[in-house]
Amino acid sequence: MVQHRVVLLSGDGIGPEITAVARRLLEVVSERHGFSLTFDEQLIGGAAIDVTGEPLPSTTLEACQAADAVLLAAIGSPRFDSLPRDKRPETGLLALRSGLKLFANLRPVKIVPSLIEASTLRPEVIEGVDLMVVRELTGGIYFGQPKGRIEADGDVRGFNTMTYSGSEIDRIAKVAFELATERQGHLCSVDKANVLDVSQLWRDRVDAMASGYGGVEVSHMYVDNAAMQLVRDPRQFDVLLTGNLFGDILSDEAAMLTGSIGMLPSASLGSDGPGLFEPVHGSAPDIAGQDKANPMAMVLSAAMMLRIGLKQSAAAAALEQAVDRVLAEGFRTGDLLSEGCTAVGCSAMGEQLLKAL
Ligand code: IPM
Ligand code: MG
Repeated sequence: MVQHRVVLLSGDGIGPEITAVARRLLEVVSERHGFSLTFDEQLIGGAAIDVTGEPLPSTTLEACQAADAVLLAAIGSPRFDSLPRDKRPETGLLALRSGLKLFANLRPVKIVPSLIEASTLRPEVIEGVDLMVVRELTGGIYFGQPKGRIEADGDVRGFNTMTYSGSEIDRIAKVAFELATERQGHLCSVDKANVLDVSQLWRDRVDAMASGYGGVEVSHMYVDNAAMQLVRDPRQFDVLLTGNLFGDILSDEAAMLTGSIGMLPSASLGSDGPGLFEPVHGSAPDIAGQDKANPMAMVLSAAMMLRIGLKQSAAAAALEQAVDRVLAEGFRTGDLLSEGCTAVGCSAMGEQLLKAL
């Protein structure tokens, strides 16, 4: 029997609750589809800081490097906000992305018909939306040097550097072009080239690559306009290619088209080695431990792991269908609740998903 080694990183806040749901579903679906999964639970984020003092212990990174895929729930807690930056939970996640060389973050945004009423946007605006945010994940202002804080002339200054090399742009643009080829053939690259030199280079490199992809229609959009277009007419987008910071912001915005950020999965991939699969949402400390979290984004991330990371597409489809079915039956966690639906908590949602599987 094929055996896949999965590292599970449940992290902080709602992480453990949604991980429990995903793990149970993965156990059932793998057995049914004739492969076996071994789960290695490791520490990251605040959970790791509490035990080891480090947000990404070397044992965790090594276990991830040796795995076939990594499934992460969420990290972060206000308890750690006053720690120095290198000791914060977020630094652990960034170090993991960087340590696994996961430069490509894919965030699919697809409207589930039964959730159309759950969005704050009008049904006629979001109906049929099916787009993919391709976010560069290991460069840009998140990682650029120099950065820090200096005191001079009686004042204090904080600074970061937004920087991309041509090769960093090329490798993420290639991912987006390939995806556009498999999808609807439209690629919109988002930047701030009217102001930023780094964005002008981004635009030039994307244009240079376009001639190699005759089937892909390329457009460019400034990020402020893209933020507006996403809520004005999101159906115009197929593949949205952008840098680390703009992608972080636009993907939260795009998530709300689906009704809740609790629905959005993501895959972070490098050129080889294991991928990291994680929901777009955070650790939601305000509802942690109260059995209120929506486990759907985590379950859909597990499905992306099965399809992209482990090449188990039938099992992936089974998980996705279970999500669709439970939503069509009217079960909702608090984030998506609307009239006539049945309110359930995180674990009861897990039970419904198991039944639907
Ligand atoms: C995300 C998150 C992370 C990011 C945080 C938690 C570091 O917001 O995955 O979108 O900014 O990349
Ligand atoms: Mg984010």
